[in-house]
Amino acid sequence: MSPAADLGRVLCIITGASRGFGRAVARDLARLVQPGSALVLVARSGPDLRALQAELTESEAGRAGLKVEVVVADVGKVEGLEDILRTSKEAFYEDMDHILLINNAASLGDVSKYVRDFSDMSEVDSYLSLNVSSAMCLTARMLQAFPQHPGLRRSVVNVTSLCALQPFRSWALYCTGKAAREMMFKVLAEEEPDLRVLSYSPGPLDTDMQVEARSKTADQTIKKKFSGMFAQGQLLTCEASSAKLMKVLLDDKFTSGDHVDVYDN
Ligand SMILES: NC(=O)c1ccc[n+]([C@@H]2O[C@H](COP(=O)([O-])OP(=O)(O)OC[C@H]3O[C@@H](n4cnc5c(N)ncnc54)[C@H](OP(=O)(O)O)[C@@H]3O)[C@@H](O)[C@H]2O)c1
Repeated sequence: MSPAADLGRVLCIITGASRGFGRAVARDLARLVQPGSALVLVARSGPDLRALQAELTESEAGRAGLKVEVVVADVGKVEGLEDILRTSKEAFYEDMDHILLINNAASLGDVSKYVRDFSDMSEVDSYLSLNVSSAMCLTARMLQAFPQHPGLRRSVVNVTSLCALQPFRSWALYCTGKAAREMMFKVLAEEEPDLRVLSYSPGPLDTDMQVEARSKTADQTIKKKFSGMFAQGQLLTCEASSAKLMKVLLDDKFTSGDHVDVYDN
């Protein structure tokens, strides 16, 4: 079967849309949805979100009827999740045929420390709350707000990492968070057969998170690896990686719950 030309009339919720990979994904989705669709852009930086909202509203898709809503919120806070749900419900119309949630927002955590340094439970809890609990609770709230019904396609993307599969020294918080998230989404895929669940690993991206990785990583081998990738131009652009994600979503051939990497064929 040939891939679909678009994703339908979609309500797309994208966390971490203010910059980096999330912003590139928002731009691509705007081009791949039918008129009458809506994008809900979420992050803490209001000015960056509003600049993207203006750009997309003025784009061809915006002129053709794409609605772009902004939610300035911390996804690690319950009020943030409530704001996202309120705006998403307001943006949803009965004739939409697809709900697409992109769980992209994340933090790297303190990579200047090793496991032996994390004796403060509140620091670990706070990291896991933002990077694991919030993605689980936002996804649960979306599933409750938009229950399965005939003619409605529901998709959830977890933006994951190689770190979900492989240990990186001094990246205990990040690796733990990504591994936990990925397993949670695998369980979800088992529980909800109607749902399309994808863990997409975008590859090493030229973003703020990479700058943090290059500058703060305690383990010198890992630090040099990332500095070397940057120096040798081996980082991917967000646009290139987002294009691969769009292809995977349009092809719709992945097994629900699977980890798909940008470098996979
Ligand atoms: N960069 C890489 O090499 C790489 C590799 C593999 C996987 N990934 C994954 O790809 C995703 C995007 O990474 P990136 O490199 O684009 O990161 P980034 O440049 O650091 O951007 C992170 C995004 O998440 C948002 N965010 C962070 N904390 C938030 C919070 N508490 N509430 C709401 N939004 C929050 C940020 O917006 P505000 O600051 O405005 O809130 C920003 O839009 C992440 O899941 C990351 O783990 C990245």
